[in-house]
Amino acid sequence: MQTYDLSAPTTRSELNALYAKMRNEPGLCRVEPFGAYAASRYEDILVVQKDAQRFSAEAIAAAAEPSWLGHNPLAHSMLSRDPPRHTQLRALVSRAFGPAGLARLESVVRREAEALAESVVRQREVELVDTFCFLLPRNIIGHLLGLDPSTFPEFKRWVSSINLIASATPEQYEGIRSAVREMKHDMGAVIAERRRKPGEDMVSDLVRAEVEGSRLSDDELMSFLFLLITAGMESTTHLIGNSVIHLARLPEQFEQARADKAHIPRFIEEVLRYEPPIQLNFRMAASDVELSGTKVPAGSLVLALIAAGNLDERVFEQPEQFLPGREKGTQHLTFGQGMHFCLGAQLARMEARFALEALVSRIRELKLRSPEIEWIPNYGLHGPRVLPVELIPA
Ligand code: HEM
Repeated sequence: MQTYDLSAPTTRSELNALYAKMRNEPGLCRVEPFGAYAASRYEDILVVQKDAQRFSAEAIAAAAEPSWLGHNPLAHSMLSRDPPRHTQLRALVSRAFGPAGLARLESVVRREAEALAESVVRQREVELVDTFCFLLPRNIIGHLLGLDPSTFPEFKRWVSSINLIASATPEQYEGIRSAVREMKHDMGAVIAERRRKPGEDMVSDLVRAEVEGSRLSDDELMSFLFLLITAGMESTTHLIGNSVIHLARLPEQFEQARADKAHIPRFIEEVLRYEPPIQLNFRMAASDVELSGTKVPAGSLVLALIAAGNLDERVFEQPEQFLPGREKGTQHLTFGQGMHFCLGAQLARMEARFALEALVSRIRELKLRSPEIEWIPNYGLHGPRVLPVELIPA
């Protein structure tokens, strides 16, 4: 069986070529850096994401809790639970993300997006990741949790620290330990406060949530808040950043977005398919299993290569073309599939839509100040590290 190195490609087209080779292998492939098995075809990815009996999300939790770190609430979140526990936890939290919860957020997201767009357009020459792409999801998560805005600046350090856990070097251990400690302290205080005095925010909803006589314990609430902060911020930052890059590089898309707001959701859906902010998911073989003729021993790490599946020619026509409004355009794998399907998918779409609406309605031109994009150096996540642009006001 062929082994591929996911960290070897230096450009997007090299990476896509690697994915194409992998999809043409008869079964699964082996990949470095993890020595994992990897599913790269759309259909195989669906199986890995949907069949929890064969491909467990539970076993990967250990990676978020190495011995040098100690207890990490994120390792115990619903993301790393299989049914039946996952089903119970999801039932308890999903109401907060239903249509009523989203409707409650809509005006806040719109107002935040407008204010941030106003500020960056006024600056004209500006780095957009830190001033726009990141601030919108950060402020929305902060609002969602009912946190005091004075704690928002800590979010970035917390999330980057948590994202480092799997690859951390000993010099980084103390920084990560203290970020987890601070998060536990601040989230613990929020939970205690909402238990004492519930309000109209999501944490209060979660405190009150009850399904079949069962409620969330403090530990479960804490794990869920860790999950929201880490799952919802960086991914949405990259979605907005990747969207801005496509708007700047494709003037006809920029003009269409300015002329007709209804084009923006179709455009975002194609950015999601073409440039998935999260490139892969992890599972572990629960027993000796077989997929597409490949035997995978129990305990092996299995990757679902979302980004490769989104380019599968068996499902998407001309997959390497960027075609908003394409047939099956919403069937991409970017938000996962099956029981762990992203709980924040509609929120992420809403944030990206309002961000782009607010931006394009204020400018007549969007220029990247450097033709080369500096991507974040992480094969699991995909988005610009910095985005210097010039915004020409309308
Ligand atoms: C463009 C932005 C986003 C992308 C690409 C994304 C992607 C994903 C993916 C691929 C999964 C499934 C992981 C797996 O199966 O192992 C997932 C799960 C999840 N996402 Fe997102 N996400 C985004 C934004 C958000 C936001 C804004 C939130 C909340 C504020 C959120 C909350 C969650 C939660 C709670 C889960 C776990 C669901 C479960 O285990 O049942 N995500 N996301």
